[in-house]
Amino acid sequence: MSDAPRLHVRTPSGTYPVEIAVGVLGRLSAAIDELDVPRRRFIVSNPTVWRLCADSLSGVSTEDPILIPDGERYKQLATVGRIYDALIRAAADRATTVVAVGGGVVGDIAGFAAATYLRGVPVVQVPTTLLAQVDSAIGGKVGVNHAAGKNLIGAYHQPAAVIVDPEVLASLPRREFRAGLYEVVKYGVIASRPLFEQVRGQLSQLFARDPAVLVPVIADCCRIKGRVVEEDERESGPRRALNFGHTLGHALEAVTKYRRFRHGEAVGYGMLAAAHLAVERGAMPAADRDALAALVAQMGPLPSVADLSARQVVEAVGRDKKVIAGHLHFVLPVAIGATTTATDVTLEELGAAARSLGLRD
Ligand SMILES: NC(=O)c1ccc[n+]([C@@H]2O[C@H](COP(=O)([O-])OP(=O)(O)OC[C@H]3O[C@@H](n4cnc5c(N)ncnc54)[C@H](O)[C@@H]3O)[C@@H](O)[C@H]2O)c1
Ligand SMILES: [Zn+2]
Repeated sequence: MSDAPRLHVRTPSGTYPVEIAVGVLGRLSAAIDELDVPRRRFIVSNPTVWRLCADSLSGVSTEDPILIPDGERYKQLATVGRIYDALIRAAADRATTVVAVGGGVVGDIAGFAAATYLRGVPVVQVPTTLLAQVDSAIGGKVGVNHAAGKNLIGAYHQPAAVIVDPEVLASLPRREFRAGLYEVVKYGVIASRPLFEQVRGQLSQLFARDPAVLVPVIADCCRIKGRVVEEDERESGPRRALNFGHTLGHALEAVTKYRRFRHGEAVGYGMLAAAHLAVERGAMPAADRDALAALVAQMGPLPSVADLSARQVVEAVGRDKKVIAGHLHFVLPVAIGATTTATDVTLEELGAAARSLGLRD
């Protein structure tokens, strides 16, 4: 299959292209030239990604790259401070474009620096993990963690463009790739049975990073995320569907102090638990839950949860950002391809859903 056409995301705060093309990294400079953004560019990346991409990116900027340490634990304000320092040292004025090259961590941090430096300069997102390509680079949520919790500090800052090269995924460790793939499955469940079927049917080609298979799958995800963001830039309604699998997923991450699971793996469990809950309520056909469970099993092993307490996980749900004025907005699948939001999910149901994953009481 050929490259996907260029998509556009139209939000109240701006319209931007999402370009998905094999090898586009090698012509990133020309791709950015086409955008209406200032010509002075600063690449923000990390040493891991920079080692892999420096050669293809040599023409993008004449400035020294701003390299931040690799890892979620550096997704904090101090790292944003280091980016400000570098920009100020280089006398970067408002005619500056930040080019974020990396996974979701780099994208969120560099995007937040861009949102706030001189009250905002444009950012071009160049995501290099599957998770970032299908999810975090699109939608304008940027920010950092606080010692008290994930993503507690942030802003909305839509990118000037998102440029996706599926070829960079060749070097991604298998576990990272798989973590992103759970989010792909999420898009299938919330919005597209054909996408779900495609992942199921082409799993081995996806894991082999076959670009011909990756491009349409990534494009579908970007289209779905873009559409949701267009409808609901600030997450007051439809954007909540993107949280499918995330209520229990986030709770699993929190009770294991963000050390056991890759985010996507926790979402894998969260989707299974939500599907279980939906079937118990008679909201989803059991066959669809079984199809989801079979696909998740086919994707590979998830870290064990047998030692975790369902009660503790349910308590962690209560502390989640998605609890608004005491109400939990729980995304309930009704089929592969459709969801609804329930505000009457009880703690007992959540506990039973967690136990269905193999957690103890
Ligand atoms: N803004 C949003 O809407 C949004 C949505 C979902 C997730 N997020 C955030 O995204 C972050 C997770 O992102 P992630 O999963 O991309 O993790 P990550 O950015 O930590 O990347 C994972 C690892 O892969 C490395 N890497 C990146 N590209 C590579 C490549 N091409 N080849 C080899 N290694 C590569 C990274 O250096 C890192 O070590 C979290 O902080 C999460 O909160 C944000
Ligand atoms: Zn997620």
